[in-house]
Amino acid sequence: MASKILHIDASALGERSESRRLSSDFIQRWSALNPEDEVIRRDIVDNPLPHMDGFTLGSMMTPTAERTSEQQTAANLAEELIQEFLDADVLVLGVPMYNLGIPSTLKSWIDHISVAGRTFEYTANGPRGLAGDKQVYILSTRGGIYGDNNPLDHQVGYMKTIFGFLGISEIHTIQAEGLNISPENREQSIAAAHAQIQKTLDTAAA
Ligand SMILES: Cc1cc2nc3c(=O)[nH]c(=O)nc-3n(C[C@H](O)[C@H](O)[C@H](O)COP(=O)(O)O)c2cc1C
Repeated sequence: MASKILHIDASALGERSESRRLSSDFIQRWSALNPEDEVIRRDIVDNPLPHMDGFTLGSMMTPTAERTSEQQTAANLAEELIQEFLDADVLVLGVPMYNLGIPSTLKSWIDHISVAGRTFEYTANGPRGLAGDKQVYILSTRGGIYGDNNPLDHQVGYMKTIFGFLGISEIHTIQAEGLNISPENREQSIAAAHAQIQKTLDTAAA
């Protein structure tokens, strides 16, 4: 059966972005293997989302009949993002590290889709994710080298935590690290990440 692939990029560097190149390579290889799949593109840099400020949150919480047209527009966007996320079978995200975390544009997307009663719920035994049946592929780039489980890493560590919170257990990470350390390191790391994409897809297909 054809799957829906949601492809999100968050780097502000446009055509110079390595995470965009990695996520695009992933999508091309995936589509070659699964030509019937539908790819939905959401570029949250070209089309930025509002921050989860008082107006956006208030719009979502106001009953439909009582919303102004501006509030309805904000609520419609929130609903579109949640539904798009819930409908996706596979998420592919290009995620650069910004100041030890993720770009604020991506945080805005997460703030829109993490909604109690829709993508997670509170139970007597604690929160429970409602968006479990998905695969996530994170194409991560960063200037320094952090490795795995580094307490300084609030980028990949956070992405894994939030998707886990939403109920998703199948999360794959492909890293290009140390991109700003030296040109040699950059070249090697990027080449290794592209090779890792193929390995990951081969393993998924096996
Ligand atoms: C605003 C900004 C903040 C950054 N903060 C960090 C950081 O905290 N740690 C790090 O290792 N690299 C940091 N970098 C470097 C980027 O992670 C690196 O250049 C990466 O390649 C960016 O991904 P991109 O090529 O897809 O844009 C930062 C870059 C920018 C533009």
